[in-house]
Amino acid sequence: MSTKWNTANMPSQLGKTFLITGANSGLGFGTSKELAKKGAKVIMTARNLKKGDAAMTAIKKEVANADLTLMQLDLADLNSVEQFASAFKRDFQTLDVLINNAGVMMPNNRQVTKQGFELQFGTNHIGHFVLTNYLLPILERTPKSRIVTLSSLVAKMSKADIYWNDLQWEQSYDKMAAYAQSKLANMMFGMELHHRLQSRNSQTISVLAHPGYTATNLQNNMGLQGKIMNFLFAQKLEMGILPTLRAATALEVKGGEYYGPAKMGNWRGYPVINVLNPTAFERPITQRLWRITEELIQTAN
Ligand SMILES: NC(=O)c1ccc[n+]([C@@H]2O[C@H](COP(=O)([O-])OP(=O)(O)OC[C@H]3O[C@@H](n4cnc5c(N)ncnc54)[C@H](OP(=O)(O)O)[C@@H]3O)[C@@H](O)[C@H]2O)c1
Repeated sequence: MSTKWNTANMPSQLGKTFLITGANSGLGFGTSKELAKKGAKVIMTARNLKKGDAAMTAIKKEVANADLTLMQLDLADLNSVEQFASAFKRDFQTLDVLINNAGVMMPNNRQVTKQGFELQFGTNHIGHFVLTNYLLPILERTPKSRIVTLSSLVAKMSKADIYWNDLQWEQSYDKMAAYAQSKLANMMFGMELHHRLQSRNSQTISVLAHPGYTATNLQNNMGLQGKIMNFLFAQKLEMGILPTLRAATALEVKGGEYYGPAKMGNWRGYPVINVLNPTAFERPITQRLWRITEELIQTAN
């Protein structure tokens, strides 16, 4: 396969159903558009239906025969996740690819989800954990289905850790460390899911991806610093969506792989297999995170 994998390498997706979280903006929007161009049925989810509708209209303007459905899903509210999952299971019989894409980064002050989890851990990790587990039966009924979870460069940076003694950042809040924890949790979740699927000989695979550094609305909380970083370092959206698209569609992809840009320390470039944070391979640690996440969900009100 070419080392410059791009949308021209993407096979037709006609007949396949994709579900993507956070589809109204940035990478989710760009990914939905490219999948629609290849004939996929795309279920675009957004927490704000007005924004979702504007995104869907914009794609339809460019891709006349786009097969799109918009559904409401707020990952920061587990009741919304449950309602979404039951509506999805009522309306759809198969799901070829779930793309756990939505994310929130570095709010300046500690915020919480509807159930009281720190916003980034609660949205990026717990929301997707619950969503995936609700949808696993339909995914596993669909031959050769995939779950693609977005992690980040920050999951390998020095602050990336699971802060077991203060998972919800109640004692002190470090916005960068809290974001890094949530994206490392995404990575550990994707790998633990991979092991669980493999151990029961499931046909469904769990794959990871990250976009390097791509200018989107994600940097909005970073103010001027974000604007400067975007100007100096960001790659275009068309490049940032390629790791997700490769992980979601390329025939050679295997469970447990991590796709990200090839160049400049994985900040930019065409998508190739990247190296994971070694913690993601430590089964006792990924199992511990899984178990604790389940306990947190069970005790959530
Ligand atoms: N851009 C980068 O350089 C970069 C780097 C590494 C990883 N990532 C990851 O890529 C993913 C996509 O981010 P992006 O760069 O495309 O950012 P973005 O443009 O800000 O898009 C994020 C999406 O997530 C949605 N979202 C946020 N909170 C949500 C919630 N509670 N429920 C449902 N949806 C919610 C947003 O909805 P609203 O529009 O309503 O806010 C938006 O649709 C994230 O997981 C991010 O961590 C991005």
